[in-house]
Amino acid sequence: MSRTQRPVSAPQSVASAQSVVAAHPAGPVPVVVVGAGGMGKTWIRTVLSSDAAVLVGVIDVIDGAAERAVADLVPEDRRAVVRTGTDAVTVARQASAEAVIDVTIPAAHHAVTADALHAGYPVLGEKPCAATLAEAVSLAGHAESTGRLFMVSQSRRNNAHLHETRRLADELGGAGIVDTRFYKAPRFGGFRDEMEHPLIVDMAIHAFDAGRILIDGDPVAVTATSYNPAWSWYAGDAAATVTITYDSGAVHTYSGSWAAPGAETSWNGDWRVSCARGTVHWDGEEPPTARPEDGEQAPGRDPAPEARWELDASLAEFCASLRGGPVPDSEVHGNVWTQAIVEAAVRSAETGRRVLLAEVLDEALAAARDLDLVDGRSRALSTWKTGVSGLTTT
Ligand SMILES: NC(=O)c1ccc[n+]([C@@H]2O[C@H](COP(=O)([O-])OP(=O)(O)OC[C@H]3O[C@@H](n4cnc5c(N)ncnc54)[C@H](O)[C@@H]3O)[C@@H](O)[C@H]2O)c1
Repeated sequence: MSRTQRPVSAPQSVASAQSVVAAHPAGPVPVVVVGAGGMGKTWIRTVLSSDAAVLVGVIDVIDGAAERAVADLVPEDRRAVVRTGTDAVTVARQASAEAVIDVTIPAAHHAVTADALHAGYPVLGEKPCAATLAEAVSLAGHAESTGRLFMVSQSRRNNAHLHETRRLADELGGAGIVDTRFYKAPRFGGFRDEMEHPLIVDMAIHAFDAGRILIDGDPVAVTATSYNPAWSWYAGDAAATVTITYDSGAVHTYSGSWAAPGAETSWNGDWRVSCARGTVHWDGEEPPTARPEDGEQAPGRDPAPEARWELDASLAEFCASLRGGPVPDSEVHGNVWTQAIVEAAVRSAETGRRVLLAEVLDEALAAARDLDLVDGRSRALSTWKTGVSGLTTT
């Protein structure tokens, strides 16, 4: 399915409809959450408090993990309608789900999402789209061949202050240079401490994606340097400087460190947007401010009371699309650009050269075709002329 096509309807229930589904024939979308780890629990809470979806199942490959999450998080009077198990499609069918939320580890995203799409379920997946760019491109093909919606939840783009920053920048002539500084000193322990590029791959992906909200056009090339401060507690490079150029001529510069104690920025980072007639500043937490070249500093608007944020906004947008609303911007074809920036940044940091997105996307397309050949379920990528054109043509 291309970005501009409307997704086809959610699958027919194969089990007898549960009361909760029958009560909302076209209302809240019955969903299952796959992956009951740290973020899966946050998603369960999000679904439970949302008016757009209703929780009908929780799945985790670890025996008993889904049951424990339900016991911990789901109010007793709602537990009866929540099925549990270790296989997503089986539980989705038993629970008469209409959609799947994939919150598994990145290495499992491709299999879980492709299986759900081919079983007829639209999928809302946690970032990153997949473990590799090739798997992400493959999933775009699986979405096309099944006609089901696959949206990636890149939650930090759902921030009213970020969108207000964009509005203020437009008033000043539009973003020409976007500069993000991100300096934090979290001590996570676990997998991030062992990754080769923890900052670029696990965190900067959010800023790269948010930059795409502020800048028109498509990213073209990435130059990156990564390094690890002498005092860093990470094995891989905890710091990086990344420059992303766009076909509109705008540039996004990002510098950050995950080993930067003192004077920390917000988790969204600190943003300066340079425009023809002035500058917008956003600290990542409060409303942004505009400073026109010939005027006083002016505060941005406060968010509307009905504004939706982060996961809640992703869920509402996904469900609205299934109920006839527009295709979300983070539909897989749109989101793959963000993952391509990450992959290009890592390659640039490792090789010391400027990396074209067309290069990484063409390589990913070739590798994705190989994956799909072995898998045998999707031939959609055979019609893509190039990686870039497959993401942009309708
Ligand atoms: N948006 C954000 O700010 C944000 C923050 C944290 C994590 N995440 C993303 O959320 C996802 C999950 O991260 P996490 O921190 O919860 O990881 P986690 O390791 O805590 O949990 C993942 C869970 O998925 C389960 N799982 C693995 N393979 C499975 C499969 N095939 N079927 C069912 N369950 C399976 C694991 O058993 C585990 O319980 C990742 O993609 C991560 O990048 C996003």
